[in-house]
Amino acid sequence: QIQALQGMETGSLKLAAVTTAKYIAPPLLSAFCKAHPNIDVHFTVGNREQIAQRLKQNRDDIYIFSQPPEDPIVQAEPFLDNNLVVIAPGDYTGPDRCTLHDLVNEKFLLREHGSGTRKAVDEFCTRAGFTFRDPMIIESNEAIRLSVASGLGLAILSEHTLAQVSSNDIKILRVDGFPLSSSWHVVTRKNRPLSLAATAFAQSLLNKTPA
Ligand code: PGA
Repeated sequence: QIQALQGMETGSLKLAAVTTAKYIAPPLLSAFCKAHPNIDVHFTVGNREQIAQRLKQNRDDIYIFSQPPEDPIVQAEPFLDNNLVVIAPGDYTGPDRCTLHDLVNEKFLLREHGSGTRKAVDEFCTRAGFTFRDPMIIESNEAIRLSVASGLGLAILSEHTLAQVSSNDIKILRVDGFPLSSSWHVVTRKNRPLSLAATAFAQSLLNKTPA
């Protein structure tokens, strides 16, 4: 197997990941590209709905989802925890150690419909019988994080989007039921033959080590 991979000199890897996964894929992709410089890599990032559409159209070799589409053609293997947390500005002095209901008067910045983060949040709210009051929709994790840090409101984001963020800028609130836990999955289509390059990269995700 190792010899076969060492002989892998050319080929292509088409990777498509949901937006939160872009915080984990680049270091592995970078190591992979250095080890296999002649592999032609195409990396697409989108929200859950956009990436699910690409999967349906069989456009890529490997996909990364936290909530893989339910389809018998889909093969999904979990590889890393993905926890969603409630965040506030670093100098926030409102309720903490509370329920979501205690935050009902706060402005929440939510991801758009079609986002996996939003889907997980909506499912939690349905279970908790909670409705956001006049939320603001922002279609980017970074824009939400920066808006929270500048005092625009609170939000629920994957903790991976907070890597290297100072506690002066962002504070994680201790809200009942949070973090919402899920896992990222390496997802492939059972009927799509994978190149050696794609197989090696999928394995590097599962091992969380460079291929
Ligand atoms: P999103 O993906 O960018 O669609 O919110 C996040 C996820 O599914 O974990």
